[in-house]
Amino acid sequence: MSDKKIYIFDTTLRDGEQVPGCKLNTPEKVEIALALDELGVDVIEAGFPISSPGDFRSVEAVCKAVKYATVCALSRAVEADIDSAGNAIRHAKRPRIHTGLGTSDSHIKFKFNSTREEIIERAIRAVKYAKRYVEDVEFYAEDAGRTDNEYLAKVVEAVIKAGATVVNIPDTTGYCLPEQYGNKIKFLMENVPNIDKAILSAHCHNDLGLATANSIAGIQNGVRQVECTINGIGERAGNTSLEEVVMVLKQHAYMGFETDIVTQQLFPLSQLVSTRMRMMVQPNKAIVGANAFAHSSGIHQDGFIKHRETYEIIDPVEVGVSESKIVLTARSGRAALKFRLQQIGFEPNGNIDELYRRFIEVADRQKEVREADLRMIIGDMHSHI
Ligand code: KIV
Ligand code: ZN
Repeated sequence: MSDKKIYIFDTTLRDGEQVPGCKLNTPEKVEIALALDELGVDVIEAGFPISSPGDFRSVEAVCKAVKYATVCALSRAVEADIDSAGNAIRHAKRPRIHTGLGTSDSHIKFKFNSTREEIIERAIRAVKYAKRYVEDVEFYAEDAGRTDNEYLAKVVEAVIKAGATVVNIPDTTGYCLPEQYGNKIKFLMENVPNIDKAILSAHCHNDLGLATANSIAGIQNGVRQVECTINGIGERAGNTSLEEVVMVLKQHAYMGFETDIVTQQLFPLSQLVSTRMRMMVQPNKAIVGANAFAHSSGIHQDGFIKHRETYEIIDPVEVGVSESKIVLTARSGRAALKFRLQQIGFEPNGNIDELYRRFIEVADRQKEVREADLRMIIGDMHSHI
């Protein structure tokens, strides 16, 4: 595998499902897991089996159904959790246990009432215990974003020595700036002696709207796995959005990073997740929002009609959206009106001014002028000729 391959770890079914009101049942989880497998993700985090018998059964069912991706189950650094995760993934073709605990001083003091030394011991024990079940063990250093770098390097070295194949560096609270997160990864790459024995993973939350930027900064500094969700859903303000990271890497191909994602499936999958979770996608969401390829101001519409790339950096077909939209509003100009009229099979002959005048009258009364309104305007004009 090339050094520039970025592994896509999807946690829609675990961190994504932690969104209040978005719980999925087992058939829904299996349906989404199969779609993720087809999309080409490398790892599917299917759930947190100790959390409930229902989640345990869902993880089991996902493991049986998924053909290509690694299927991963979450656990805390606790033996009972690891037992549950290990049992839930026993039917997976490529099983992984994702175990870990908080490493920031705040977590060590307030969550665990413990010490830095004791946390390292617990981390080592958890990884070794998980290795009894599977070869592929990922360790997460929760709140790594706010963990002191020198101490984090010691934790990472210890868990790799204990057998971790992947080490997750979560910005759990979405605190970091891209430069800080990138420097953290750089520090680990340069100061963990056995870093070549494992892959570093970015798991960024979006509390400051920086999850994608932080994940990209992580990649630029040595991360080779990114943890993300469809539509960026997840705890609080969400996780890194899968579609954003994948398209950033594709649009900036000169960086040389590649993923195995079939980008034409991004929009259909975004819709599937939104429907099953009953959570709408915000219209201005990058890549998959309803307005991501819609043009409504006259200046933009005119440029877009002359040459698509004047106002679009992505061909919508590349992400599974059939075509861009010209939305007619009171801000639209003659070029957009003519374009939409032609789309519905009407060729305005000669002077379009009268049509445009009538169009603006309608547009000023309502937010958008739709096809039915256009037909009415045309019909009205003809009946007066
Ligand atoms: O945000 C986080 O730190 C997590 C871990 C459990 C990986 O979701
Ligand atoms: Zn998380």
